Amino acid sequence: MSQKVNPLELYTIREATEADLPQILDIYNERVLNSTSLFVYDPVTLENRQTWLKDCQAKGYPVIVAVEKETNTVIAYSSLGQYRPHPAYVLTAEISIYININHHRRGLGRILLEEMIAIAEKMKLRSLIASITSENSPSIQLFGRYQFKQAGQFHDVGYKFGRFLDVTFLERILESTVVEFTGAASFTHFPWGQYRYGLE
Ligand SMILES: CC(C)(COP(=O)(O)OP(=O)(O)OC[C@H]1O[C@@H](n2cnc3c(N)ncnc32)[C@H](O)[C@@H]1OP(=O)(O)O)[C@@H](O)C(=O)NCCC(=O)NCCS
Repeated sequence: MSQKVNPLELYTIREATEADLPQILDIYNERVLNSTSLFVYDPVTLENRQTWLKDCQAKGYPVIVAVEKETNTVIAYSSLGQYRPHPAYVLTAEISIYININHHRRGLGRILLEEMIAIAEKMKLRSLIASITSENSPSIQLFGRYQFKQAGQFHDVGYKFGRFLDVTFLERILESTVVEFTGAASFTHFPWGQYRYGLE
C-alpha cells in the first residue's frame, strides 16, 4: 500500500510576496484557459494580479502560497477576499484555493484549507463562503471534508466553452467567533509581514 508523503516535507507555506506573482499568474491563467473553475475567458495580466495582491494587503485579507522546496517554485496559493462590499457583510469572506495541476492529489488542498480556516478564526471572521462551479467535484469534495455545507445552487449563471454552468455555494460558520459588536462590525486584519505558518 502506498503511503502519502506529508506535504510539509515537500512544500513550505508562507505569505505571498510581489515576487511570487508571475508564478501565481501562471497557475491562475492555466485554470482560466483550461477549466470552468474561473468565470474568466481570457488570461489576465501581471498588473491585474499586482492590483489584486495590493488590494488584499490594503483590506487586510490573506494570500498564502505553497513553495516547492526542491525548486523554490510557487505551486499553489489560497486567499480570502471580500464577499460583498456592503458593510454588514464584513465578517464574511470568500475563499479561493488554486494548485498547479501537476501537484494535485498530494494533500496540498487540505493543508491550505486547514490553514486558511485557522487564519480566518484568528481574524475573527464568522462565515467563509466557497463559490464553486457545480461540475468541479474535486473542489466540492475537498470543502465538504472541512464542514463546508452546501447552501444552494444557482443554475445556468455561467457561460463558458459554449455551455451554461451551475454554481454551488458552500458555507462554513466559524463558531469560535463570538460577535459582540453593538455598532459596525470589523475583523482583525491578516498580519502581513509577521505571518508564520501554523503559529498560534
Ligand atoms: C480542488 C483542489 C484545490 C484540490 O487540491 P488537491 O491538493 O489536489 O487536494 P488534496 O490532495 O488535498 O485532496 C483533499 C481531498 O479533496 C478531495 N479531492 C481532491 N481532488 C479530488 C479529485 N480529483 N476527485 C475527487 N476528490 C478529490 C478528496 O476528498 C481529497 O481527499 P483524499 O485524498 O483523502 O481522497 C485542486 O484540485 C485545484 O486546485 N483545483 C483547481 C482550482 C479550483 O477548482 N479551486 C476551487 C475554487 S476555490
